[in-house]
Amino acid sequence: MSGVNEIRSTFLDYFRKNGHEVVPSSPLVPRNDPTLMFTNAGMVQFKNVFTGLEARPYSRATTSQKCVRAGGKHNDLDNVGYTARHHTFFEMLGNFSFGDYFKEEAISHAWNLITKEFGLNKDKLLVTVYHTDDDAANFWKKIAGLSDDRIIRIATNDNFWAMGDTGPCGPCSEIFYDHGDHIWGGPPGSADEDGDRFIEIWNLVFMQFEQVTKEERIDLPRPSIDTGMGLERIAAILQGVHDNYDIDIFKALIRASEEATGVKAEGGQRASHRVIADHLRSASFLIADGVLPSNEGRGYVLRRIMRRAMRHAQLLGARDPLMYRLLPTLIRKMGQAYPELVRAEALISETLKLEETRFRKTLERGLGLLSDATENMSEGQSLDGETAFKLYDTYGFPLDLTQDALRQRGINVDTDGFSAAMERQKAEARANWSGSGDAATEKVWFQVRDKVGTTEFLGYDTEKAEGVVTALVRDGSVIEAATAGESVSIIVNQTPFYAESGGQQGDAGFIYGDGFVIEVTDTVKRADGVFVHQAAIREGKIQTGDAVELVVDHERRSRMRSNHSATHLLHEALRETLGTHVAQKGSLVAPERLRFDFSHPKPISEDELRKIENIANEIILQNAPVNTRLMAVDDAIEAGAMALFGEKYGDEVRVVSMGTATKGDKAGKTYSLELCGGTHVRQTGDIGLVRVVSEGAVAAGVRRMEALTGEAARLYLEEQDDRVKAIASALKTTPSEALERVNSLMDERRKLEKELSEARKKLALVGDSADGAAAHEVVNGVNFMGKVVSGVAPRDLKPLADDGKKQLGSGVVLFIGIDESNKASAVVGVTEDLVSRFSAVDLVRVASAALGGAGGGGRPDMAQAGGPDGSQAANAIAAVKGALA
Ligand code: ALA
Repeated sequence: MSGVNEIRSTFLDYFRKNGHEVVPSSPLVPRNDPTLMFTNAGMVQFKNVFTGLEARPYSRATTSQKCVRAGGKHNDLDNVGYTARHHTFFEMLGNFSFGDYFKEEAISHAWNLITKEFGLNKDKLLVTVYHTDDDAANFWKKIAGLSDDRIIRIATNDNFWAMGDTGPCGPCSEIFYDHGDHIWGGPPGSADEDGDRFIEIWNLVFMQFEQVTKEERIDLPRPSIDTGMGLERIAAILQGVHDNYDIDIFKALIRASEEATGVKAEGGQRASHRVIADHLRSASFLIADGVLPSNEGRGYVLRRIMRRAMRHAQLLGARDPLMYRLLPTLIRKMGQAYPELVRAEALISETLKLEETRFRKTLERGLGLLSDATENMSEGQSLDGETAFKLYDTYGFPLDLTQDALRQRGINVDTDGFSAAMERQKAEARANWSGSGDAATEKVWFQVRDKVGTTEFLGYDTEKAEGVVTALVRDGSVIEAATAGESVSIIVNQTPFYAESGGQQGDAGFIYGDGFVIEVTDTVKRADGVFVHQAAIREGKIQTGDAVELVVDHERRSRMRSNHSATHLLHEALRETLGTHVAQKGSLVAPERLRFDFSHPKPISEDELRKIENIANEIILQNAPVNTRLMAVDDAIEAGAMALFGEKYGDEVRVVSMGTATKGDKAGKTYSLELCGGTHVRQTGDIGLVRVVSEGAVAAGVRRMEALTGEAARLYLEEQDDRVKAIASALKTTPSEALERVNSLMDERRKLEKELSEARKKLALVGDSADGAAAHEVVNGVNFMGKVVSGVAPRDLKPLADDGKKQLGSGVVLFIGIDESNKASAVVGVTEDLVSRFSAVDLVRVASAALGGAGGGGRPDMAQAGGPDGSQAANAIAAVKGALA
């Protein structure tokens, strides 16, 4: 007997040996098709390859594709648990030819694989073909040797496969397996075909057309092949069981569920275990692919799946959250084939636990209400829509959960009444908006939201996606179309563009469509969840309903990722270095730099700054993965996550963590843990480098730090380096010796200045006359020496005056020094014998007055004053002379 893992690899190996590229499964959220809720077939990721829009380096491929059929067009949710073959999650094995081989080889490969590799008994197989497809019928006859009665022609859409209302399509041929006459049912096309005896195992689609619109169908560039075989179905046959839920993977999950609940999968309990096993798979894979439970779109389908499983856990009497305890079994069985499951283990586990913990509280109360409301009802009756809506609105019961809960008693739900109640509530909410006095410009976003719902954000995982334009807005009004040269706000059902929030700026980029090119300059969020692309039409015309491709400016986004992650690292490094009083007061994550405001009462020293920067760079060098998880706010805060300033949080929050602390109490634990909705690098090493370029006060107790990362930080350092090199070259030395050189130049300069001052002092008193003494004159019988000296520091004027007095023996000296800015200092000295006649203080005041100053002070034998006008020095000398006379 082969396990699911061996069957999968046998299939992929077979096609690899036959020249096919083994391509990994694409994510469950289709990036290339906005009309699909979830990837529901193997060909989804190749849609554009079939139509010739996209080229790949291979023309044959094989995959094992994760598929979810719940919500949207293919919805199997309601049946899961109660039938042998319905799943919300399944794996589709497929082989593809893109204009390479066609019908004959496809049939030949399929036949070879199932009869030789898988060893199925030829007599148990029969096939269908589209009623007009003689080629296919003939190939089956030739290759498989099947008799005519085993090649059944079908005229219905069952044998014409289409991806959806539009997209690649073509006639198909299905292979059926006969599980034996002990099971009721007839071959395809017969009256009993709905029975369970003849089971379709493989669908070969001969892709020939593209449905462009409802009416128009065109030929594909080249005929191609798309096939799909349900892994669970073929496994059931190979493992000799009739029911998909009896194959190895489900047996393991159901056993885990039995052990965890202590309830056997028998009788009425069997369906509950099956629901849990199936829903655990879809929920885990969806979470691993970035879907998180929410109240809208894909997130709501996930929530419905999870809550449905949780009700069944409750039916089994589980007192504590159950689903997350089964996750290890799932990962053991499927983690090797799908490593994304292993990578997201913590996120899946916490998300499951959180949803179950929270929902458990209302589940019991809601079930109580439901049983009261249906107490007197009997099979065939319907629960009123009003009560179903109350369960939805107050207790978080998705409609299908209520239906599922009543299913076993044969009670229906009035779904029209449910919709009517929902509509009425929406209308009331609308009425409240218009009365709330919101600005008219805001009102339009609520109108848009009401009409088209909130936007699904895909940008955590991808920077490129397809979408459908749901609204266009200009000047506060909804418009139908916009053309080249115009600016417009564009709303799309899903987008990879990040809308500004939490300090991180909105994304820019391009939107392309049939005949138009649009530049997005910014993205903002309005009305609590409507992403608005602010855009300018460069070429062509865009209309509501158009299909578009949205491409985020990768460079710009990458820099914001780096700057955002670096902000988290600096935040923690600040707290580690300065203390836990440091709290975020604001932040800006722009492409060119990051800015972070935080509480701290005093300046940060150069040493501290360097330490902060070093710590952040250490974590960058760890190249640690950056992990995102979803947690309850309280749990996150308890785990030590830092909450962002001024940010509103829902009950569930995204928690971003990175790095491992190496020092202190936290050594070995997660370094940075923050509540954050922003986009981040995958590994800290992606930041490259962080460099703080400024730090200063912005308000009392609040400081601001600015920093650069990656290429910007490198360029900044390069510039600094160039500057040092230029300095060194001007100093005629090397950068490493430049500082020493500057210091010795400064010493030299101080020495020279001193020498110069000395020389000037000397010069002031010598050389004027033949005996080498300074010139003086006699005024009114008193020796008087009056001189203007330059280049002598004011503090050296007094010693100069002393020297002058000595030279004269008896007399009065006046020295006026003038500095570069033409300010004057004056010193007057009077020898001891003359102090009874002249006061140095009086005389210096006279000089000062002439120099435009006032005052002056000192002793009778030596006084000093200043004045702003050095050009009056000669007048000052004359004035003092006058005073002596
Ligand atoms: N795309 C085909 C299917 O889903 C193979 O059945």
